[in-house]
Amino acid sequence: MNRVLNFKKRTGQLKELGELVFLEGMKDISFEIKRIYYTHSAKAGVVRGRHAHKKLEQLLICVYGVIKVMCDDSEVQEYYTLDDPAKGLYVGPGIWHTMKWLKDDSVLLVLASDYYDESDYVRDYDEFIKLAKEGYWK
Ligand code: TYD
Repeated sequence: MNRVLNFKKRTGQLKELGELVFLEGMKDISFEIKRIYYTHSAKAGVVRGRHAHKKLEQLLICVYGVIKVMCDDSEVQEYYTLDDPAKGLYVGPGIWHTMKWLKDDSVLLVLASDYYDESDYVRDYDEFIKLAKEGYWK
């Protein structure tokens, strides 16, 4: 289901040089990346998401700040605090998810397995539960 991935990184010889993080499609993540998007300039307290996807696979990376992600598989809710740019959270199909900004101007970078397609979204929670109970994602 959801899982936290640790990316490779190179730390500068001097701390002030910072850290470089890198990941490669089909090596460090299991899907081909067809779309990249990011959400920025949101203030602490903002909640985004509130949907599930029928088929889309995504990798969520908080490249700046702190974002708490809730993942609900219709039976169990799990919470992840993304506060490290060298970690990513894999969110597969059939997971209702929300992202809550815990720090102003946190940046959420998302790598997605497919192009944008509104028909892949399930935006109604009751519909999500119905599909899950029918075994849509089994
Ligand atoms: P949505 O995925 O609901 O954002 P969030 O989960 O962060 O709240 O998308 C918000 C709007 O942007 C919605 O109208 C669909 C549109 N959108 C695109 O047109 N292309 C994209 O790649 C994405 C992710 C969203």
